[in-house]
Amino acid sequence: MLSLPQLIGFSEQNGQWFAENVSLSSIAQEFGTPCYVYSKKALTHAFDAYDKACFRKDGTRRARVHYAMKANSNLAILNIFSKLGTGFDLVSGGELARVLAAGGKASDCVFSGVGKSHSEIATALKAGVKCFNVESIPELTRINEIASSLQLKAPISLRVNPDVDAKTHPYISTGLKDNKFGITFEDVIHTYQVAHQMSNIQIVGIDCHIGSQILEISPFLDALDRVLSLIQELKTVGIAIQHLDIGGGLGIDYGGDTPPDITKFANTLLDHIEKSGFTDLEVIFEPGRSLVGNAGVLLTLVEYLKPGETKNFCIVDAAMNDLMRPAMYEAFHAIVPINSSSTDSSVYDVVGPVCETGDWLGRDRKLSVVSGDVLAILSAGAYGFSMSSNYNTRPRAAEVMVDDMVVHVIRERETLENLYQGERII
Ligand code: LLP
Repeated sequence: MLSLPQLIGFSEQNGQWFAENVSLSSIAQEFGTPCYVYSKKALTHAFDAYDKACFRKDGTRRARVHYAMKANSNLAILNIFSKLGTGFDLVSGGELARVLAAGGKASDCVFSGVGKSHSEIATALKAGVKCFNVESIPELTRINEIASSLQLKAPISLRVNPDVDAKTHPYISTGLKDNKFGITFEDVIHTYQVAHQMSNIQIVGIDCHIGSQILEISPFLDALDRVLSLIQELKTVGIAIQHLDIGGGLGIDYGGDTPPDITKFANTLLDHIEKSGFTDLEVIFEPGRSLVGNAGVLLTLVEYLKPGETKNFCIVDAAMNDLMRPAMYEAFHAIVPINSSSTDSSVYDVVGPVCETGDWLGRDRKLSVVSGDVLAILSAGAYGFSMSSNYNTRPRAAEVMVDDMVVHVIRERETLENLYQGERII
């Protein structure tokens, strides 16, 4: 179920759930629930799996990982990745501030996103980001004007919409013609020519990102072929491309999924690029989910068991505000009791206390639980905490990171005062 069961998983020997060498029950007891738990080793292993593919046999580097930090932007996680040598893919001024606060460098960041504001562009330019991944001519024009006023040159890449079907959930598919993302394939060469004429723009790269939770390699190869053909065509019109950013999107196993192995996936893409004759391109991967998704779980307490006529409900203390993925995408997360004394099982919908019918975390789950038990919602490291909110005036969960036998609090549980401290009664 988990791709790294030795790091967060069940130990047959002890009959307990562990993150590295700490039992999840002890974490729930000490830090309370809801609580996100991450394994440092699991993060490192996932990074290593990419990094292995980033070097040629002769030891020279052929690719680099830029962690798509929207998946989980806790400073501790950014700091770990930064020390491992990743760059970052960011999508807001806020994310740039986080990278800098975590000890990362702006020059290791590519700035993606379809709606960069004036102040975000100015801040990123002054900080010296590696590249703006640009999505339209109006955005190019804005970046050129701001760079000119600051007497700087803005390094840019154009995000190509390759119009390939990544066969994923429509909300997380981004590379199709009717998505808001990227520049239509047919318009790319012209847009580069426009950029080439702009005095304060420096063309450095090309990028694409076709979607998320993709479980096959073929859509990536299709997109790659389309982008490589553009690089070739750009060469003939006198525009040189130094780096190719192939985005993120590799899926993980949420329970029954069979994603390609990370190293195999990365090697296949990189070998394909080299075999197509592009041997001096600097390649960038922008993975988010596949680096952190299976490195985290969400612990939650069973408050009540509520039998119903057609459904039984297992009401827990985590909710859609803590983990939005089931409500938003009908996403599946495996749910396991970590300390139950009960052996009687029933089928439940696992739901939170939020006043919405859409507030569910798992449907039709066979569980042996009683009130007071703790459940672990698995594979919650990506797009879990980072998409959480304060809906229903619920303080956001604590986050802890296990490093071997030590548990570090990497984000304190919010207090109620935190929630309304910026509000004023008139
Ligand atoms: N690069 C760009 C430009 C992106 O937009 C994304 C994700 C990534 C990289 C990283 O993709 P990943 O490797 O994580 O698949 N909230 C959704 C996922 C949204 C993904 C948005 N873009 C979810 O919970 O499934």
